[in-house]
Amino acid sequence: MKPNQQSLTSSPPLPRQEVEQMHAYTAPLEGRRDFLRLDFNENTIGPSPSVIAALKAIPDSHLSIYPEYDGLREAVVDHCSSDMCTVSLKPSQVGLFNGVDAAIHATFHAYGDRGNRLLTTTPTFGYYTPCAAMQGMDIIAIPYEGETFEFPLKKIRTALTEHKPKLLLICNPNNPTGTILNAETILQLAVEAPETLIVVDELYEAFCGSSLLPLVDFDSIPNILLLRSLSKTAGLASLRIGFAIGNADVIEKISRVTGPYDINSFAVTAAFAALKDKAFIDSYVAEVLHARDWINKQLISSGTRYHLGGGNYFLIWPKRKPDEIEAALKEEGILVRNMTGKALIDNSLRVSIGTITQMKTFWAAFSKHEHLEK
Ligand SMILES: Cc1ncc(COP(=O)(O)O)c(C=O)c1O
Repeated sequence: MKPNQQSLTSSPPLPRQEVEQMHAYTAPLEGRRDFLRLDFNENTIGPSPSVIAALKAIPDSHLSIYPEYDGLREAVVDHCSSDMCTVSLKPSQVGLFNGVDAAIHATFHAYGDRGNRLLTTTPTFGYYTPCAAMQGMDIIAIPYEGETFEFPLKKIRTALTEHKPKLLLICNPNNPTGTILNAETILQLAVEAPETLIVVDELYEAFCGSSLLPLVDFDSIPNILLLRSLSKTAGLASLRIGFAIGNADVIEKISRVTGPYDINSFAVTAAFAALKDKAFIDSYVAEVLHARDWINKQLISSGTRYHLGGGNYFLIWPKRKPDEIEAALKEEGILVRNMTGKALIDNSLRVSIGTITQMKTFWAAFSKHEHLEK
């Protein structure tokens, strides 16, 4: 029997109401490979040579086999053990994800229900709110305070008590303001709000050294979840691998909403090699911190408005229109992120910090187009 043509041309079935109302989260990530990429805070030099060697050594025959994850949680624990002063981490307290983006998505999927609340700050990393929206959660976003973007601690505390949110998302240090909330304060918030899962996105903690990991005992404080990634320090952004670290029960719940093979074999092999070569990560972070000091000095002496916090990035407000400077830098082969239209940071550019040589290239081009005196 022939299918009824009329039913073939009618509209497709509707998705869930929340999905129908939202837009896909997209970032301008195409056509970037030939540029000096100071727009997405990635590692700017590539991964450790031992990662490259491990990837090249993957036998062809492994391509047809589903990925294997044995030992990767233990490798994360070993990697973190030098950070753990008081309490030790267990493999069951580590969740493996296809990038921290996937860990964030899974956390909302597991914990965020229709009508629940997400409490967070603004401006912050852009993926939290679409994840909340797709679950039908209500979003309370409290602005950073003043010219130096201080963490709105008092208001967050009040909102925790008044709204009893299911999730509190703290990006620490915050992307894009670099704001750091000290680890002891976050621990205190967790004790004060036991019904809220406090997710601390520590993607950039290596650049400020303010992690909760050395302090938190996830058995006695089960409502803290830390997110770590190999994208920004280890140079594995393309492979997509990230970790959630927290109470074993929370990790197990979050892992329930992921597919069995969401992380591919290349990412697993690269992660083992990257986690083992801590010296490479440490030396890259040291180079970025050195470059951060250098660019900070140039920014101070230029008199340009800027804001530099705890991450591998800073905000700068050019005197010329941000669109023009962004385009002029692109002509010179340099990408930066234009923050025009974003609350509190309107008209700024976010610039990632790479090596000192890369910062010198950026600064020479920026100074030329801004007509800054040498
Ligand atoms: C604060 C923050 N969290 C998470 C992510 C995503 O990290 P991943 O590459 O591990 O998915 C980013 C990427 O820019 C980020 O800035």
